[in-house]
Amino acid sequence: MVKICCIGAGYVGGPTMAVIALKCPEIEVAVVDISLQRIAQWNSESLPIFEPGLDEVVKACRGRNLFFSSDVEKHVAEADIVFVSVNTPTKTRGLGAGKAADLTYWESAARMIADVSRSDKIVVEKSTVPVKTAEAIEKILTHNNKGINFQILSNPEFLAEGTAIDDLFKPDRVLIGGRETPDGQRAVASLKAVYAHWVPEDRILTTNLWSAELSKLAANAFLAQRISSVNAMSALCEATGADVSEVAFAIGKDSRIGPRFLNSSVGFGGSCFQKDILNLVYICECNGLAEVASYWKQVVHINDYQKNRFVKRVVSSMFNTVSGKKIAVLGFAFKKDTGDTRETPAIDVCNGLLGDKALLSIYDPQVSEEQIRRDLAMNKFDWDHPQHLQPLSPTASSNSVRVVWDAYEATKDAHGICILTEWDEFRKLDFRKIYAAMQKPAFVFDGRNIVNVDELRDIGFIVYSIGKPL
Ligand code: NAD
Ligand code: UGA
Repeated sequence: MVKICCIGAGYVGGPTMAVIALKCPEIEVAVVDISLQRIAQWNSESLPIFEPGLDEVVKACRGRNLFFSSDVEKHVAEADIVFVSVNTPTKTRGLGAGKAADLTYWESAARMIADVSRSDKIVVEKSTVPVKTAEAIEKILTHNNKGINFQILSNPEFLAEGTAIDDLFKPDRVLIGGRETPDGQRAVASLKAVYAHWVPEDRILTTNLWSAELSKLAANAFLAQRISSVNAMSALCEATGADVSEVAFAIGKDSRIGPRFLNSSVGFGGSCFQKDILNLVYICECNGLAEVASYWKQVVHINDYQKNRFVKRVVSSMFNTVSGKKIAVLGFAFKKDTGDTRETPAIDVCNGLLGDKALLSIYDPQVSEEQIRRDLAMNKFDWDHPQHLQPLSPTASSNSVRVVWDAYEATKDAHGICILTEWDEFRKLDFRKIYAAMQKPAFVFDGRNIVNVDELRDIGFIVYSIGKPL
């Protein structure tokens, strides 16, 4: 019986291992983490992350061949295959701060694997890492060679939050990179055999280690680039009277461009796009590729521009001041169907409005008040460095923020509404009722282009959507 251990019970480790356990009943899968709280949540009725379909998968195999444990060393020692799915945030200090990936968590996991291993192991990079990380990991694993054979594989994860279970059940591809030696190729075949339980063979791609590592950064850079491209177009649409949805639809009909991932928005968020692009930029700079670095940097730059542009639009539309005005913020998560707020554009938009002394009333169906307050009080990049997080204490703007549990409560007496996450329930709101309870003139700033502009204008709202005629 093959034993798998995954270090890191987060957004990736939890769902990916649950799906492996479900699809491979004869494999024992242990997911381990240094966070006792996270492990306790995985073992409870209320899982630490909200992800459609995840509860069912976990319930089907937890206690059977899926285990969540804080006994990290024991499970690593017993495993044949060790996935490492720890966080790889942006460095906040020292060389490369603000760009380079911080591999502290990865390195400590690798050192622990080296220390506790008594048998041969395949070590799989599941986290997103800079290209060439496997070389450094190999050095750490073999630093006091005890005659153990470690094979390093790169197996980056491409799931998106909110659709993680579907993505894992039916991946566009699974990518496995390994050394081109007989041992390396045997390791690739072993991991391939795991995925082959449910993924068609032609969707399991194998490459060399560096191609696999770089493909992950490249995929995220290309995806984010599409959003920044359409968002850049949205600014031009607003200046010219073109409609960005019509433009996106028209260009998406070209089969070389394709229709997906062209939704203009207040900006992309999430834990990875910005971090991975900055990491790519840093790698290019380190390799003396200044032009390539500056090309990719623009993707992040346009994203920041888009978030700023949105705040400016709100303030300028509301007669150049939002001071003392109540603004309802609908949605705080970085996209629908997740409670994740890492790098959500809502943080920048809310902080921008608070900087102009607005009074915010925030509602998100999946994000807690504590999380929202923590996010608004935090320095950039600190969210993934627990050691930098201070206990939550009142900040200057605490009194300017209310977090409520209903969109109607949030919008009552408000001067304006900012829609920052495309939750389905916001499409079904009774905007007549909302309008009646708001201050006039009543503004809607739709950062996700989900409302029917004509209908809202008929009701009496002043509506601003991204990239649409005013
Ligand atoms: P996460 O923060 O949700 O989970 C990481 C977990 O690792 C945490 O629970 C942390 O406590 C644990 N951890 C850190 N160091 C450890 C150690 N030494 N031993 C045991 N546990 C340790 O992060 P995530 O969102 O799951 O992302 C993990 C990696 O996967 C990142 O590199 C990310 O870029 C990549 N990735 C994320 C997504 C996504 O949608 N979130 C998708 C694809 C790839
Ligand atoms: C993204 C990638 O889609 C995954 O393939 C990848 O595995 C993952 O990053 C990762 O490495 O972490 P994720 O961030 O979970 O997944 O979600 P996306 O659906 O990609 O959305 C990212 C952001 O872009 C969200 O804020 C979303 O609202 C925004 N977006 C997305 C747009 O503004 N427009 C679009 O057309 C699509």
